[in-house]
Amino acid sequence: MLSSIKTRIIVFYMAVLFATLPALGVLLYAALDKIVYNAIDSGLLSKAKALATLIYEDKDETEFNFSDDIMWEYNSPKARTFFQIRRLDGSIIEKSESLGNAELLFQPGDEGTTFKTISLKGSPARLINFYIHNKIENSPATAGGSKKQGMDLLLQCAQDINLQTAMLRNYEIALFLSIFIVMAVSAAGGFVIARRALEPVEEMSKTVDKISEANLSARIDIENTPKELRVLASSFNTTFDRLTEAFKRQKQFTADASHELRTPLSVILSQSEITLRRERSGPEYRKALAAVMNAAQIMSAMVSKLLFLARLSTEKITLDKEPIVLDKIIAEAAGLLAPVISQNNTRINIAPLTDHLLVAGDKTALLQLYINIIDNAIKYGGTKRVVDISVRREGGFIVSEIKDHGIGMHSEELSKIFDRFYRVDKSRSRGSGGIGLGMSICQAIVRQHNGKIEIKSEIGTGTVVSIYLRGA
Ligand SMILES: Nc1ncnc2c1ncn2[C@@H]1O[C@H](COP(=O)(O)OP(=O)(O)OP(=O)(O)O)[C@@H](O)[C@H]1O
Ligand SMILES: [Mg+2]
Repeated sequence: MLSSIKTRIIVFYMAVLFATLPALGVLLYAALDKIVYNAIDSGLLSKAKALATLIYEDKDETEFNFSDDIMWEYNSPKARTFFQIRRLDGSIIEKSESLGNAELLFQPGDEGTTFKTISLKGSPARLINFYIHNKIENSPATAGGSKKQGMDLLLQCAQDINLQTAMLRNYEIALFLSIFIVMAVSAAGGFVIARRALEPVEEMSKTVDKISEANLSARIDIENTPKELRVLASSFNTTFDRLTEAFKRQKQFTADASHELRTPLSVILSQSEITLRRERSGPEYRKALAAVMNAAQIMSAMVSKLLFLARLSTEKITLDKEPIVLDKIIAEAAGLLAPVISQNNTRINIAPLTDHLLVAGDKTALLQLYINIIDNAIKYGGTKRVVDISVRREGGFIVSEIKDHGIGMHSEELSKIFDRFYRVDKSRSRGSGGIGLGMSICQAIVRQHNGKIEIKSEIGTGTVVSIYLRGA
């Protein structure tokens, strides 16, 4: 359940509220309770002290000098204040009329001044036990100087606190209700806020769900996405753009590959069918078989190039990189192209180097790279059949330049040269055996080597291909 962010926010929010609000309520209640009881207690203490000053001893008798002025507070049966005076053995020697038949609780052993909440005549009351120790009193009878040792007495004063406890109870209820309401409102608010906050995420996920193979155009509306989520939304959109692009390329590639494979395949089929229609002579069979073989060779070359490209395009494949002497690889590639070179009557000039330049690379892949580039320079080399190759160091890169003086290309053609199956002049290229995969393979190889490939070309002047590879 806690896997939902919404639930987590609400649970956390509620936990904070549950922990703080009741604690705050308890604190507020305790504070008011203390204030109220302190006020009652100090009132009771003053009353007890005032009464104590009016008690004196006369001829071993305890006398009370209580005037009516003082007693009006205690003597009405409806009065809310009470007092009672006991000897320490518990016997009551005086009490206020307001007490009627009731008496104030006595617990022997109480020492000093103590306060208690008791029940008096069915109402809550606050009681003070006030001890009068060895009272020395100047009684009116002994006025003139003689002093006497008095007796220990317990003066008990009480006050009905029904009003105060009712007030505290009301306060308690009001506090409880307001805390409950605040918690309920906050919880509901928290729920709404959490839901609102996550609504855009749900919207985004709906849009993402809508995107399928059939509908790649749906995008998240960034304008209506909250600021905090815009970065996420725009990365979603860029990812979708990239995926759409990759998907389109893949579709195009499949269509192109099937189209390219269909041509030699139909040559094989038609040649075989026509030849098999009737008995043929030996040379006729040979001619047909040669055409079939030629088509099969084209297919085979195409399939192996496609497989090589597929292998290179799989990001997971990392080539075995080792230090490689680049000029040796170039010479080896030129050597492998010897039949094409002699067939096209081309001269390959490799500029001499003072020392060998090392690159970090995969030997087979680099060989394939230079075969493709030199093959192009020969195939599209025009009438001036010379290819100049040079290698130099430039910063951390080893740069190899393959320059032909051939037919060249327009700039708009240059931008498409790395597309799979792209050929500037399909009919002409097919005549020279090109299938338009060479440069795609070269680009994939250079990318795997963290290098780059640059092409400069001019119609009628020629083409310079510069390959940048990292030095070992
Ligand atoms: N040096 C060059 N001069 C002129 N045009 C070139 C040169 N290199 C490549 N091109 C043009 O770019 C196209 C793509 O080249 P790429 O090497 O990918 O394919 P290809 O040579 O036709 O076939 P493949 O290399 O797969 O056998 C070529 O068909 C050609 O039109
Ligand atoms: Mg090529």
